Amino acid sequence: MKSGNLIYLDYAATAPVDARVQAKMLPFFGLDFGNPSSVHQFGQAAEAALEDARERIAGWLNCTPEEILFTSCGSESDNLAIRGLAFAQLRSAQANHLLISPVEHHAVSRTAEQLARNYDFELEYLPVDRFGRVSPDEVRRRLRPETALVSVIFANNEIGTINPISEIGEVCREAGVYFHTDAVQAGAHLSLDTRELNVDLMSLGAHKFYGPKGVGALFVRKGTAIIPQQTGGSQEYGLRAGTQNVPLIVGMAEALEIAQHERAQAVEKLTELRNQLVKGVLATIPGAALTGHPEFRLSNHASFVFSGVDGNALLMALDLAGFACSSGSACKTGNPEPSEVLLALGLEPDLATSSLRVTLGRWTEQEHILSFLQTLPEIIHRQRQNAVVIQ
Ligand SMILES: Cc1ncc(COP(=O)(O)O)c(C=O)c1O
Repeated sequence: MKSGNLIYLDYAATAPVDARVQAKMLPFFGLDFGNPSSVHQFGQAAEAALEDARERIAGWLNCTPEEILFTSCGSESDNLAIRGLAFAQLRSAQANHLLISPVEHHAVSRTAEQLARNYDFELEYLPVDRFGRVSPDEVRRRLRPETALVSVIFANNEIGTINPISEIGEVCREAGVYFHTDAVQAGAHLSLDTRELNVDLMSLGAHKFYGPKGVGALFVRKGTAIIPQQTGGSQEYGLRAGTQNVPLIVGMAEALEIAQHERAQAVEKLTELRNQLVKGVLATIPGAALTGHPEFRLSNHASFVFSGVDGNALLMALDLAGFACSSGSACKTGNPEPSEVLLALGLEPDLATSSLRVTLGRWTEQEHILSFLQTLPEIIHRQRQNAVVIQ
């Protein structure tokens, strides 16, 4: 996507809402404004739209509509999954052991840390390899009778690495332990079939797959007890109170349908462009290294470190040159601390602050990649020269 002279290469942070999605949402901001909980015909129409969206999403997740809860975002889905499941497990089984990867989004890791700090939970981090992948064997080794839950991110937002979710899920299922995955980055790129993935809970956020911001979903497998985190009305099967945001939910269903329907062609196109980008960067910039897995990674995702470069200064220089990129997750922009994800891969703190994330999407064209490849080497060269002068 080009806006004026700017080229958007930050689709992992968020994506524009597809025009087809906008069109579907519009009536629900206007005449179809009813509250789905109301008895009258306005309410019935809203409820019909809400349940149609739930059914369509359930179809892509290969689950029943009753297993889908609507939330306000991916973060809320993660919070509800981790906190809701942890408290339910503590109450019913005195299970207080939380096992998560060290490369989780903060929506998972900060929630688990809070549970360990303020309640009777013990938090253990799984090891990852140098690409940020979790091994199912390492999960098996760490499971205990008192393990309340395992949570492993499906596709990492900072480094694009895809985890072997189905295999980890199998290990958890054999041991009778609940398994959650944060699939927020996966929506437009990977199959979300919850049966094949062997997950009990799975988080999604619409704005990562060309849907609106402010709406998410949580898959909760039938028979999985969670304690609601937002109490009030009996919406969402009594597990998430609050009048549902019908326009955004309708948009989310449409966006997921389009993204999953067009997934194969999108992955093919994006993989080609992404490979061209990675090859070009590594060939032209000395001291550049790819972070994350070279093969098991999101098709739209490229991430690097450049020795001797400050990641934030690099982002600003790229912005001035007309390229919108990121140094990690959007939530971390402006944070001078080295990325915890990159540290977990074993990178030295200095190198971990030199990161750049370039993520492509539906409106990325080859000319954008070529233009980026022409610009980046010179910017890195200048940054390194400046760093030497300052020292
Ligand atoms: C992996 C992952 N999980 C959770 C989130 C949070 O999603 P939201 O922005 O919808 O709250 C993000 C957003 O960057 C993400 O990348």
